[in-house]
Amino acid sequence: MIGSHRLRRLAPFGVAAVLALALAACAKSYPDSTFTPHSDLGRAIDFLWNRLMFFGTIVFVLVEGALIFCVIRFRRRSEDIMPPQTHGNVVLEITWTLIPAAILAFIAVPTVRTVFETQAPAPANSLVIEVYGHQWWWEFRYPQYKFTTANEIYIPKGRTVDLVLRTDDVIHSFWVPQLAGKRDAVANHTNHIWFTPDSNMATTVWNGFCTEYCGDSHGEMHFRVVTVDPAQFTSWVEHQQAPGFYSPEAAPAAPTTTPAAGSATPAPTAPPPPAAPTATPAQLASFVLPRADVPDYAIPHTPLPDEIKFDDALKGDPAAGEKLFVGAGTCNACHTVAGNPLAVGMIGPNLTHVGSRIAIAAGMYVNDKQHLSRWIKNARIMKSGVLMPTLGKGQYDPQTKATMPAGLSDQQIADLVAYLQALK
Ligand code: CUA
Repeated sequence: MIGSHRLRRLAPFGVAAVLALALAACAKSYPDSTFTPHSDLGRAIDFLWNRLMFFGTIVFVLVEGALIFCVIRFRRRSEDIMPPQTHGNVVLEITWTLIPAAILAFIAVPTVRTVFETQAPAPANSLVIEVYGHQWWWEFRYPQYKFTTANEIYIPKGRTVDLVLRTDDVIHSFWVPQLAGKRDAVANHTNHIWFTPDSNMATTVWNGFCTEYCGDSHGEMHFRVVTVDPAQFTSWVEHQQAPGFYSPEAAPAAPTTTPAAGSATPAPTAPPPPAAPTATPAQLASFVLPRADVPDYAIPHTPLPDEIKFDDALKGDPAAGEKLFVGAGTCNACHTVAGNPLAVGMIGPNLTHVGSRIAIAAGMYVNDKQHLSRWIKNARIMKSGVLMPTLGKGQYDPQTKATMPAGLSDQQIADLVAYLQALK
């Protein structure tokens, strides 16, 4: 008996300790947590969630309490006695029909109101971004500013952004946990999701995800949303509208008239590429979130596959890389670099300013020389199921199960990397 008394006295402390632990788990702000919203839509959803959770908890405690009470109080006390039966008790049956109906109405009113509010057309002068889901990357078009980018968007704080969601293939779903709810990108149907990022929020990066299973690399279909001040946004837009260029510093005068040693295809057969546009001082000064300001959670840490060997000591020449891009590399068949009339492919991501992006392969790998070179050499080993062909000479293609007899040498890949990295 003494033991049970002590237990009863200690019980409140035990409950308090468990609660404190649970609350401590919520205290830290996790980068991909949906419980710390930074927009009007995020808060509307959060409000509904909190309300449902609060009243749901009350209902749970009352119902479970009544159940446990009845099980004990009205239990069959002996084999001979039948406990009192409530079947056919009209009052009881009406009561337990009406109470859930009332609860349902209580939940339905704010829910339906929020659905109507957030499904209404976006306010006029919203920033429109057309989103196209692809297996497995995101295309973003800014029709008001007439440029296209991939896997990374900038949005100004305090201005409503109206995302127009479509898909190029299967169903995908757009989700930035800290900014807004999820919405599907569906074939033959245009969905919208609009929200206003808080005007006092941080200039930082938010992780975005595909949340509808869409095939092999569904789990590697990320994107980044960078929230910036309106002036920074204007500057970034100017930068994105400018053609792809590489700064003279990044393009050393290299002997580009002769193909690099080990080159499989001599360049002269390819049409002569246009002279690389050089950056104006305004373009060089345009705003791009400095790499040092990108939080660690927004930088991918996916390890490199061991199978792909590459000589990292090779020095790439961006001018040679540009020739390869529209020549032997045939990159231009799938990729656009605005400003280069020979690079207008629409199948893969727009690479106009790829050098200034945080990540490659839809957020799977960090955008650096090491990862980009292996990606070009054998993307299909880097990321399961991708359309990006295997380009490295002698590489095994896991999709066709064949070894590439022809293809690019490591030196050619290094040149391409130098060119792409210089497309700031
Ligand atoms: Cu796209 Cu899952």
